[in-house]
Amino acid sequence: MNQIAIKDIIDRKRKNGKKIVVLTAYDFPFAKLVDQAGVDIVLVGDSVGMVCLGYDSTVPVTMRDMLYHVKAVSRAVKHALIVADMPFGSYDTVERTLRNAKRLIQQSGANAVKLEGGSFVLDQVKALVGSGCPVMGHVGMTPQTASQLGGYKVQGRNPEDAERLVKEAQALERAGVFSIVLECIPASLSEQITKILKIPTIGIGAGPSTDGQVLVLHDMLGFESSVKPRFVRRYAELSNTVVDAIRKYSEDVRDGEYPTLDESFQ
Ligand code: KIV
Repeated sequence: MNQIAIKDIIDRKRKNGKKIVVLTAYDFPFAKLVDQAGVDIVLVGDSVGMVCLGYDSTVPVTMRDMLYHVKAVSRAVKHALIVADMPFGSYDTVERTLRNAKRLIQQSGANAVKLEGGSFVLDQVKALVGSGCPVMGHVGMTPQTASQLGGYKVQGRNPEDAERLVKEAQALERAGVFSIVLECIPASLSEQITKILKIPTIGIGAGPSTDGQVLVLHDMLGFESSVKPRFVRRYAELSNTVVDAIRKYSEDVRDGEYPTLDESFQ
């Protein structure tokens, strides 16, 4: 099976209407499983900061963290398109954006980068697209600037904010993004944006009308976390499975049940 290309993602909306499946992954073993299961896009999200590094936001995540995780994921993925998040502070000037995106794409194996925000990233998006780096946009609740948005809250509920988000999504499309994440906005607003744009929208907490969906892998697999947002559906309860397995192993070691002679070299 060939690796999915940017054009295949755009064609999903323009030609066949098949929903785009996106899931995060941050390391080799999970990226391998996610790819094997047949998702279209693996997102190495800066959610790595909360999921794998123990931070309470995405803000402390550095380029060094992202490069390390993108490299591990790209060694595992054979089929899906790999999108890497640009972390906080890595795209605040055009020059810095180009340098850092090239490190993610050229040195680490990402196929595209994702930037959060609307009007303040337009120059960066244009420069990236102009230099051949595919870009995914991200508007609505943007975790890197959550404190400016009043916390992790649904955005675009009042008419002015909704209009601003529509305009930002359109401006990002004009700037050249190949798709756009809509995070935590009302379902009716994401339906409106999805209808207006020619590029695919990828929703998270944005209702059923987007052209694709993304979730944080550890949320949908049921790894323990302090919050479970309303939009997360759990497809497994892996925290419980893992703790049960480790308890059983500990019990077996303590009781002398493991290892047996069959599990030993003679
Ligand atoms: O970092 C991330 O995982 C993301 C998704 C939640 C869209 O940006």
